[in-house]
Amino acid sequence: MRKVNWGVLGAGGIADRRTMPGMMLAGNARIRSVMEIDPDVSENLRAKYGADKAFTNARDLLSDPGTEAVYIASPVVFHKEQAMMAADYGKHILLEKPIALTVGEGQEVIEYCKRKGVLLATGFMMRFHAYHVAMKRLVEEGKLGQIVSCRAQLTCWYPDIPGSWRQSFASSGGGALMDMGVHCLDLIQHITGSRAKRAAGMAKTLTFGYEVEDSGALLVELENGALCHIEANFNIPDAAARGRLEIYGTKGSMLAEGTISQAEGGKLEVMLSDDTLGYDAAQDRNRVEPIDVKVEFGNMYTKEIESFSNSIINKTDIEVPAEDAVQVQRVIQSAYRTSSEERYERF
Ligand SMILES: NC(=O)c1ccc[n+]([C@@H]2O[C@H](COP(=O)([O-])OP(=O)(O)OC[C@H]3O[C@@H](n4cnc5c(N)ncnc54)[C@H](O)[C@@H]3O)[C@@H](O)[C@H]2O)c1
Repeated sequence: MRKVNWGVLGAGGIADRRTMPGMMLAGNARIRSVMEIDPDVSENLRAKYGADKAFTNARDLLSDPGTEAVYIASPVVFHKEQAMMAADYGKHILLEKPIALTVGEGQEVIEYCKRKGVLLATGFMMRFHAYHVAMKRLVEEGKLGQIVSCRAQLTCWYPDIPGSWRQSFASSGGGALMDMGVHCLDLIQHITGSRAKRAAGMAKTLTFGYEVEDSGALLVELENGALCHIEANFNIPDAAARGRLEIYGTKGSMLAEGTISQAEGGKLEVMLSDDTLGYDAAQDRNRVEPIDVKVEFGNMYTKEIESFSNSIINKTDIEVPAEDAVQVQRVIQSAYRTSSEERYERF
């Protein structure tokens, strides 16, 4: 099988924790090169993943003719410049979310890559989780009836770390909502096949001392009319995380727990009923048993890399196009605006 030769910019963070281990399992990809700013870190990562080359600056990696595609997992502040440079060198790009600091800059990256004729995807790998794939199928089959309500949450523990790029707006573009809420909104939109029409948010720094929000909530109406709630927190201990995704319709509900996560796993409970039933004053809730949805777990990062490599090799549609990250970011930015302008009632 033909394998895409990948280069990795910012190889020492999530790339090392998740994406490169996933890439190693992909049938149609191999790691050609890595780049980290510290030469020892870069060389250690090269050796760890059996890559051919280690670099300490982006241009050197990008000018290597043996590299066909790049995975950009550097801090967000570098995304725009590095993605445009990658496009200049004709490399296809998997660009981590958010793809740039703002919607405007993200749009610039998309248009630039189009002009240069390179493919551009983003890192919403949770779409590939086996339970999320199953949930999307159940919605598409109409098993849930009319979708009326959704809820998703992603949390972690992220205390003050001096110098951390994620904790200042200028280098991250936002806090918990921009970093983690984006996955939640993307999953709800992807699974329901319906996009945000109206949104309002609240964002505040409740626990820690940094500039970006450690607590965010977003209320969204989808085009299909469903009302959704998204929560993103940097101030809930990892051991207490739930990672819940809930979809409710007129014929049933789906509750996934632990699936909004970096590892494929968790559980899914589906309750299906009938929307032709009459009103039941007793509100009897014991008439249905949860349905066991059988899936085979894999590695979301492997699937993400295989999917984009397949788009490069076989010119198939990009499954997670960068446009989707910009659309999600537009909604998150609107949450920041409604929050800072206090566009809600105060009691
Ligand atoms: N999809 C996911 O599962 C997921 C998870 C975490 C992070 N992310 C995204 O990945 C990106 C990186 O996040 P992270 O958690 O890995 O951050 P991180 O800080 O842990 O890692 C970033 C790495 O980039 C390196 N770096 C610093 N300056 C650089 C430069 N100029 N050029 C290249 N590399 C540079 C750092 O040394 C560090 O090793 C962000 O966009 C983040 O939102 C995605």
